[in-house]
Amino acid sequence: MRRKLVAGNWKMNGSRKNAQALVEAVKQGAARLKHVETVLCPPFVYLSEVGAQLAGSAILLGAQNLCDKTEGAYTGEVAGTMLRDVGCSYVIVGHSERRSLYGETDELVALKVAAALGAGLKPILCLGETLQEREQNITEAVAARQLDAVLKTVGVEGLAQGVVAYEPVWAIGTGRTASPAQAQEVHAYLRRRIAAHNATIAGEIRILYGGSVKADNAAELFAMPDIDGGLIGGASLHAGQFLAICQAAE
Ligand code: PGA
Repeated sequence: MRRKLVAGNWKMNGSRKNAQALVEAVKQGAARLKHVETVLCPPFVYLSEVGAQLAGSAILLGAQNLCDKTEGAYTGEVAGTMLRDVGCSYVIVGHSERRSLYGETDELVALKVAAALGAGLKPILCLGETLQEREQNITEAVAARQLDAVLKTVGVEGLAQGVVAYEPVWAIGTGRTASPAQAQEVHAYLRRRIAAHNATIAGEIRILYGGSVKADNAAELFAMPDIDGGLIGGASLHAGQFLAICQAAE
């Protein structure tokens, strides 16, 4: 049985003060959860404080990005070891906003996954097609290309150390969710593609769905056989919404 995972990606939102209030509320609500694994991914500058606030709770800490290099003269970058140092267990890698707005290529994303693994972090590898790609019927080819770049670099055993998040770009922050059937189709495809390398790993690896997951659509998405939880953007900024999504994964 794959344990469900719900991760909140705060993106570049909030302040020190409201981060504190949000974490407090999530922490209190999440104390009731027994089965779902919960992760919060605040901006870099709040990681230490959020981590300290989460101490003693079951909620894990994640970062939203990392550098592909281990240390040195890379102004403005943050290394995986630094993220471990402040208590991160997870790191989001290859989010579509990083790919489209900051020019991260499949190759760079693969190097970042390798860097995360090297630092002892579990990467949350994001992939997914744009609307144009879906309309061209190349959804699977795009997902395959993005997945294969990582498999080529870290192997299926490396991939197995983290989780995959299928996030159709057209569903991120748009209020437009993939239907459970649409998402399931891609999740099953990804699992089959991983199975071609190692069937046991394919059966065990968690594949999250992301893209406008809300309290009112989470349950039907999480009920699909190959959807193992969610990567939550906008709704993770509201404790009530985020907790309701975690509850749906219970
Ligand atoms: P959203 O973002 O839930 O706001 O659509 C998801 C994500 O970008 O991970």
